[in-house]
Amino acid sequence: MKIDILTLFPAMFASPFNESIIERARTRKLVEINTVNIRDYALGRHQQVDDYPYGGGAGMVMKFDVLSRAIGSLKGENSRVIYLSPQGKPLDQDTVVRVARQEHLILLCGHYEGIDERIMNLVDEELSIGDYVLSGGELAAMVVVDAVTRLIPGVLGDDNSSQEESFVGGLLEYPHYTRPRIYQGEEVPETLLSGHHEQIRLWRKKLSLKRTLIKRPDLLLKREYDQEERKLLEEILFNGEKKTK
Ligand code: ADE
Repeated sequence: MKIDILTLFPAMFASPFNESIIERARTRKLVEINTVNIRDYALGRHQQVDDYPYGGGAGMVMKFDVLSRAIGSLKGENSRVIYLSPQGKPLDQDTVVRVARQEHLILLCGHYEGIDERIMNLVDEELSIGDYVLSGGELAAMVVVDAVTRLIPGVLGDDNSSQEESFVGGLLEYPHYTRPRIYQGEEVPETLLSGHHEQIRLWRKKLSLKRTLIKRPDLLLKREYDQEERKLLEEILFNGEKKTK
């Protein structure tokens, strides 16, 4: 996967992309990430990237000609141009999975009041990372790169770790525990110590359902349930609980 990021502030990306999982994925050539300075496509002595809005009003607008040249120079047959903006479709894990299947992403980071609307004809998709306004698309682009990169085959040590995590299958992930078994009187749930794989699987499924019910009930309404899940939900809702946390 190749990711080009069009930005006025390439230096912002240095640290997040040189740490942890993204750094390892880049070193192992599982992903190629380039930051491209939009200003390199501006003409003239002042290399102007923005201008006053037609019709007046506050703020500056990023120029169509500059962004068009920038996108044009990067775009190939299998490129997907994504514009990060608070007006975009809210990013969720299903979208991340779909985007992670692309060969080449061009992430366009806006700034100032916005971009010349004519650029939208060159954009395949507009994504938002939440209902709040950032000062630019850079942090949102980092979020997309992070969420996408960890799904590229081979990036996570154990490919199961992206199969079992929160939002996969529409549920939040079950809780985890590690040693010590008892600390300050707090114990690890008995079932996890049993070595009984089927019981552990069921316990985890139940805790996933329970956590989702408590923390994100909206997610429960969006999915369908098999027989086992119905039974577990019934236990959670109607049978009371052993202490499960
Ligand atoms: N740019 C500014 N705010 C944003 C947001 N919430 N999501 C994506 N890009 C943005």
